[in-house]
Amino acid sequence: MSDRKIKTIGVLTSGGDAPGMNAAIRAVVRRSLAHGVKVKGILKGYTGLIRDEMRDMHASDVSDIIEHGGTILFTARSTEMMTHEGQVAAAEVCRKHSIDGLIVIGGDGSIRGASSLAKQGINTIGIPATIDMDVPFSEYSIGFDTAVNTAMQAIDKVRDTSTSHERCSIIEVMGRSAGYIALWCGIANGAEDILLPEKYNYDDRKLLDNIIDNRRRGKTHHIIVNAEGIGDSEALARRIEAATGIEARATILGYMQRGGSPTARDRVYASIMGSLAVDLLLAGKSDRVIGYQHGAFLDYDISEALSMKKTIPEYEYEIASSLSHNYYKTYAENLADLID
Ligand code: F6P
Repeated sequence: MSDRKIKTIGVLTSGGDAPGMNAAIRAVVRRSLAHGVKVKGILKGYTGLIRDEMRDMHASDVSDIIEHGGTILFTARSTEMMTHEGQVAAAEVCRKHSIDGLIVIGGDGSIRGASSLAKQGINTIGIPATIDMDVPFSEYSIGFDTAVNTAMQAIDKVRDTSTSHERCSIIEVMGRSAGYIALWCGIANGAEDILLPEKYNYDDRKLLDNIIDNRRRGKTHHIIVNAEGIGDSEALARRIEAATGIEARATILGYMQRGGSPTARDRVYASIMGSLAVDLLLAGKSDRVIGYQHGAFLDYDISEALSMKKTIPEYEYEIASSLSHNYYKTYAENLADLID
C-alpha cells in the first residue's frame, strides 16, 4: 500500500479492443478530475507508454464516447512490455510525467503488465476488458456482453436462411482459447452443437451422428456454433456435406464482434470499474485488479488473481446441448425413425 498522495493518474487500453472501454476511460477521467487529480491518456497501450505518447485529459475529452465501441486511446499488443527492458522503460516514462497511479484496461496479458510496473514502483490497478471473458478472477469482463449480443443477432439471421434451405450452418465466433462466447450463443441461439476449445476432442463422429439424428427427427436446420480456437469451419462444412449428404455452409463472424455500441451492462459495469479503479488508487492500493464475483465488484492482488482457475461451467455446457433437442415427436416415433 502506498502512502503518497496521488496527483496524476495515467490510463491506457491494451490488447484487443472491447466495447465499453470508452465508458471505462470516461469514468477514470471524470472520477479523477472530481477528486482534483490530473489525468494523462496514454495512447496505443504499452507501446505508446514506452514511446512516451500521451496527452492531458479534460472532462470534455470524454464527452460523447460512452455509446461508442473501440477505444479513443487506441490499443496495441506490445511484445516489448513482456521484456524487463520494456518494463523499466515504461516505468521511466511514468516517472518522467509524474504519473503516480496507472490504470490499465485490458485482458490478462495487459493486467500482467500492470503488475510488472507495480514491481517497478508505479502504483497500478487493472480493469478486465476482453470480449473473450477469459480472465480467471472475474465472472465478467468489459465487452463480453456486447460481443455475445452481436454474435447472437448475427446467428439468428443465419438461422433464417439455414432453415429456408434446410442446411447445416457452422458459425464461427471469436475466442482463441476460450469458449465463453460460443457457449452463450449456443444457449441463446438454441444451437444444436457447440464446439469449444476447452471441450472439443476433434472427433467428428459424434457431431455427424447428431446431424443425421436431428434430420431424421425432422429438424430443418442444424446450427453449429464453433469457437475460433477450433477454427477449420470451411473444412468442417465440406466434411459434413461429404459424410451426411446435407448441404453445409460456414460463416465466420470475425471482428464485427469486437465493435459496435456497448450494451447497457457493458456501459454501467465499465463505469463502475473505472470509478472503482480511481478510488482504489486514492486509497493507496497498488498491484490490484478489479473482478466481479457473485454480484459484487472486488479487488485482488494481481498475481493471486491471475493464478485463479476458471473453466466452462459443466451444467451450462450440458443444458446447451439438452435444450436444443426437439421433442415434438413421441419417443416411439423417434425410435421408429432411427431404426428405419
Ligand atoms: O479480443 C480477443 C480476441 O478477439 C480473440 O478472440 C481473438 O483471437 C483475438 O482477439 C484476435 O485479435 P487480434 O487479431 O486483434 O490480435
